[in-house]
Amino acid sequence: MSKKRKRKAKLKSKARKRPKSRKIPFEAKDFLSLKEAGVGDLDLLFKLAEKMKKKPEAFFGKLKGKSLALLFQKPSIRTRVSFQVGMAELGGNSVYMDPQELPLGERESIKDVARVLSRYCDVAAVRTYHHADTEEFARNSSIPVINGLSDLYHPCQTLADLFTIREKFGELQKTNIAYIGDGNNVLNSLLYGASKAGANLAIATPRGYEPSEEILKDIKLICKESGSKVTLSNNPFTAIKNAHAVYTDVWVSMGQEKQRDQRLRDFQPFQVNGAIIGKAPKDSVIMHCLPAHRGEEITEEAIEHPRSVIFDQAENRLHTQKALLFLLLTRKKKR
Ligand code: CP
Ligand code: NVA
Repeated sequence: MSKKRKRKAKLKSKARKRPKSRKIPFEAKDFLSLKEAGVGDLDLLFKLAEKMKKKPEAFFGKLKGKSLALLFQKPSIRTRVSFQVGMAELGGNSVYMDPQELPLGERESIKDVARVLSRYCDVAAVRTYHHADTEEFARNSSIPVINGLSDLYHPCQTLADLFTIREKFGELQKTNIAYIGDGNNVLNSLLYGASKAGANLAIATPRGYEPSEEILKDIKLICKESGSKVTLSNNPFTAIKNAHAVYTDVWVSMGQEKQRDQRLRDFQPFQVNGAIIGKAPKDSVIMHCLPAHRGEEITEEAIEHPRSVIFDQAENRLHTQKALLFLLLTRKKKR
């Protein structure tokens, strides 16, 4: 058996029995951080996304008559287009509002916008600078609210990331994800998703750019239940040891432009490049949520590498978000 197949087979044999999905999957009203998701909910979502990817026509028209509001305060290609196309494929409508048209909290309060959109639409996806704005929007809307990225979390990205790893290795439990770079929104959500799914996460950040103590405390508790291991270091070469996936994101997130010069200096040794790929296991995949800044956090060589799954990851935003929309809009109400 080849080394690659051996590693895959080992993952299967190590996997623990999966917890079942709750009676009402994704029973929390909103999907803001992945904290709310049950462990079995993720499994259910991935199975559904797999079916939707294989046979999209089987789900045509399933959300007929439903409308999705997209309220974005920052630019987006993947999140916006995958939600709009996804909703259309399921037979529903979507309405996109950009920051020029609807600057949250300027022309009218977040609270009023949330209440009005709840009267027209069935679900909303919101992209804000401050996570507190997303929470305020969710508190004041009567429809499910999806976080389409905030300064703190990017849970829709994590769904696609984990789905991609599951697709490549046939399993998520006990897979080793190496995350190299900034302790940002993408990593925060990956921490919740990976630890709930039973995957291990080895993180390498520069000193001072680690995820917050509060989140790490929360993750420790989740790991106790799932058996996941999360480790922190300041050395990318330590993190990639035994990695199945090597993941990075931008060094300067949207809203951090003023810190750009400092960050470029601090993050230099954390680039995903030929040296990192050369030392990582030969069957490991290279991941990035995009948009990428070639020559900063990742090189052209790494993006275009035969083991890069970056564009599968981008495609999988569509399938996983369709599954999310379907589950949120067809779940039974709590009695
Ligand atoms: N990865 C991601 O969320 O991309 P966008 O910012 O283009 O939506
Ligand atoms: N961390 C990045 C992710 C972009 C999808 C940002 O917030 O800009």
